[in-house]
Parts: sequence; structure tokens; C-alpha cells
Amino acid sequence: MVKDIDWANIGFSYTKTDYRFISDYKNGKWDEGRLSEDAVIRLDESAGVLQYAQTCFEGLKAYRTVDGHVVCFRPDLNAKRMADSCARLEMPIFPEDKFVDAVKQVVKANLEFVPPYGTGASLYLRPYMFASSNVIGVKPAQEYQFRIFATPVGPYFKGGAKPISVKISDFDRAAPHGTGHIKAGLNYAMSLHAIVQAHNEGFNENFYLDSATRTKIEETGGANIIFVTKDNKVVTPKSNTILPSITRRSLMYVAEHYLGLKAEEREVYLEELKDFEECALCGTAAVLSPVGRIYDHGKEILLPSGMEKMGEVTQKLYDTLTGIQMGRIEPPEGWIEVIE
Ligand code: PLP
Ligand code: COI
Repeated sequence: MVKDIDWANIGFSYTKTDYRFISDYKNGKWDEGRLSEDAVIRLDESAGVLQYAQTCFEGLKAYRTVDGHVVCFRPDLNAKRMADSCARLEMPIFPEDKFVDAVKQVVKANLEFVPPYGTGASLYLRPYMFASSNVIGVKPAQEYQFRIFATPVGPYFKGGAKPISVKISDFDRAAPHGTGHIKAGLNYAMSLHAIVQAHNEGFNENFYLDSATRTKIEETGGANIIFVTKDNKVVTPKSNTILPSITRRSLMYVAEHYLGLKAEEREVYLEELKDFEECALCGTAAVLSPVGRIYDHGKEILLPSGMEKMGEVTQKLYDTLTGIQMGRIEPPEGWIEVIE
């Protein structure tokens, strides 16, 4: 039985589900892990996560497919990326195979919260790890907890496929040789002031620039960016200070191998924005959200695809990616993890 929820109208917000996965790291090793009905965490007042933000997370979704299965999209890549985040933050790595197994356990335990096929909603999974034991000097903690909770979600941006407005941010998100390439909580904490300001000014998101030269486009606070050129090439910023989005990597593959388009990962200059035909944000939460307007300090760039609907190429990318995720289109090998 699926829960009685108004699936077509849920936004991207937290709804408590029945079970979450918990595993503790003590004395140098992870325990077996367990499912729990308890959503509350009790922590030492000097826990590493509270004092020095030693925490990282992941995000992926489970979908109901056209033929009634419940699947997950490329969870092995989330496991790998979380391992990279942990290594950079001096946290213990949660074994990648156990990560995928725990994702499956959480989805299975919360099957009633996996939205029906065709509603546009999905079950968002949030794996995360934090330092649970006390520290006072600046150093890594000794004990950690790994958790995964699940929450049903709809579109990240209100209005779903309607193009959004973004601004070029005056704030930086990531430093060269910093932590922009991993999914550390600290990267999001420092973006909150910038997003509140952008919202107050009437923009949906920020485009961050590379902080070394402030001449290149990087990403937003929660998604990578793709552009489409006038001759239908799909271009995405290349940078080692942005998060390696699994959605973006998948879209570039889809562009080349399913749609026969040229796909290019390269540096994208602020100067070039006026020359693109289409632009969209891509990520697990954002899926592929079209951008219609970019505001750059008094200059307004209106993408030719406009503010009414997605550009043509963006739409094809969207249809193909979501078609693969929902079982309407044959996936590349290894992309779909069948859970039920
Ligand atoms: N960039 C940032 C900063 C993000 O938070 C996310 C979300 O996970 C992404 C990009 C997109 O990554 P993915 O496609 O793996 O969800
Ligand atoms: C995701 O897409 O999974 C993210 O973590 C981005 C966040 C803005 C919700």
C-alpha cells in the first residue's frame, strides 16, 4: 500500500518516514548497523559535528518505474563520492558495498513512501555521517555515526519545469584547494547567507564564480550547470572546485550516446553567457531545472529559450534521463539498482 499523500503537490521538504538506517563507528570499526524508528539523535555537547562541522552527506532518489518496480539511480556513485568526502574530512569511510545495501534496506523499509509512478514525486534518500564523540582542540573525533533517512519529495523549484532566474553571486562558495569538490556540510552552511540574499532580491539561485579569478562559472549552491550552444552542443563547466554531480555526468553521457549530441566539459567564462541558447541546473534534487534569466550586476541575460518552458535540448535531456530512471528507456549497464 502506498501512503495517502497528495503526491503531485508535495514540494521539496522533509516528511518523517518510518525507518532510518544507523551505524556507529567506535574503536576503529563500524558496527553491523540497524534500522530504527527513532528519528531523534542525542549528542555529546562537544561532539565534533557541533564544534567543527565534521560532517558530510549524499543525496539520491528511489523511483517507482512504469512496470511497477522500485529502483535507485547509480547509488554506487554516491557511495564512492561519500568515501571521497570522508577522506578529505578525516572521517572513516563507510564501506561502499554496505552503503548500497543500507540504501536498499531503507527504501524497502519505507516502501509505502515511494510515490506512485507518474506523479513526478520520488523518495529522496539522505545518507550522512557526522563526528559523534567530543573534541575540544581542533582535530578529528574518534567516533562517528552514519545514517540514511528517507523523505518523499516533489520538485526542488516551485513550478517544476518553469524556467528560473539566477544571479551571479558576490560571495564565493569554494576556494582553490578547498572543499568544493566534496559534499561537506560546511560548503552549504557558508552558502546560506548568499541564498537568503538572492531570494530576498527575487532570484531563485546563485551562480558562483571561481574564487581565484571570478571570471568563470562554477555551480549553484545545490546543483551543477549545463549550457546548450546555438549549434546544440551541451557544455558544462570543468572545475576542480565544484561537486562532481552524478546527474551531470549521466546527462553528458545521455547527450552523447542517446541523443547524438556533442558534449563538452570545459571552462565556461562569464563573458560567454550571452552566447548560449539554453541553460539548466542539474542535480538529484534539481533534476534538470531550466534557467531563463541570469542577472549579472545590472546586466540581464535572457536565454533565447525564454521564461515559459524548457529549451528544446534541455527537454530532450530531461525526457531521456527521467525515462531511464522510471524504466521507460533502456538504461546503460549498471545505472539502475532494482530494489523491489
Ligand atoms: N552541486 C551541489 C553543490 C550539490 O549540492 C548537488 C547535489 O547533490 C549537485 C551539484 C548535484 O549532484 P548530484 O547530481 O550528484 O545530485
Ligand atoms: C541533492 O541534489 O541531492 C542535494 O544534495 C542538493 C540539495 C540542494 C538538496
